[in-house]
Amino acid sequence: MTPGGRASGRALPGGFSGETVTAIQCDNLQDVQHYFLRKAREVAVLLPPRSAVLKTDAWNEVVGNVNGFETVPVVGELGRSVEWTYMIEYRDDRAKAAREMFRDEKVIVLRDDLRTVEAHWQFDAIFDLSTISYMPWDEAKLVLAKYHKWLKPGAPLAIAPWLTAGESTSGKGGWMPDWIFRHNAGEFIDRLQEFFTIVESESVYAHAGGVITMFVAARNP
Ligand SMILES: C[S@@+](CC[C@H](N)C(=O)[O-])C[C@H]1O[C@@H](n2cnc3c(N)ncnc32)[C@H](O)[C@@H]1O
Repeated sequence: MTPGGRASGRALPGGFSGETVTAIQCDNLQDVQHYFLRKAREVAVLLPPRSAVLKTDAWNEVVGNVNGFETVPVVGELGRSVEWTYMIEYRDDRAKAAREMFRDEKVIVLRDDLRTVEAHWQFDAIFDLSTISYMPWDEAKLVLAKYHKWLKPGAPLAIAPWLTAGESTSGKGGWMPDWIFRHNAGEFIDRLQEFFTIVESESVYAHAGGVITMFVAARNP
């Protein structure tokens, strides 16, 4: 299949409704990563010259080819309009690897925790590819508020949470050592809409048990 998924008319698990959600069915985790690359390129063309962007976590760039994943340089796809890229990654090894990887480029890798980091940034775009799914809902809610504060007016947020149509769940990710959270889709979308205008939402990958990876493109008002 075409890397990056194909559109289908399939209904979302659990009948999540209330939004116009396009189902993009990726067959495996690699395809999900390619889908993210495509989304990065789509956002890249919207960026003004000399942009500063935030890509949360360094997973996609440094994970290596493990457990069905492969390294996909999302940061490398953001295009020539980007002057400065910031990455925030709370694991020492991943932050270090990202620093090494981008040492000759204008990429600032902060080993820090999104939940606690405080700064007066103004970004032209933020990419959160499931980092938000590694924190409980109370903390995730606050991080979404931070994204709003850190984005310039009109700037895009590209976010890919793991959501469930039913009760929020949490547990080990299976292939990931971290504890992960699948937030309730309705609550998540409602929270996003407190701050952002949703431009596009696509369900990308259905996990076991009705958990979906969503992709939501939103704009600061
Ligand atoms: C498995 S990855 C996310 C998925 C990946 N971006 C993708 O495209 O599938 C989670 C990454 O976020 C990092 N992370 C989790 N919580 C974080 C936080 N609060 N602050 C910064 N980094 C965090 C983890 O160390 C890990 O590298």
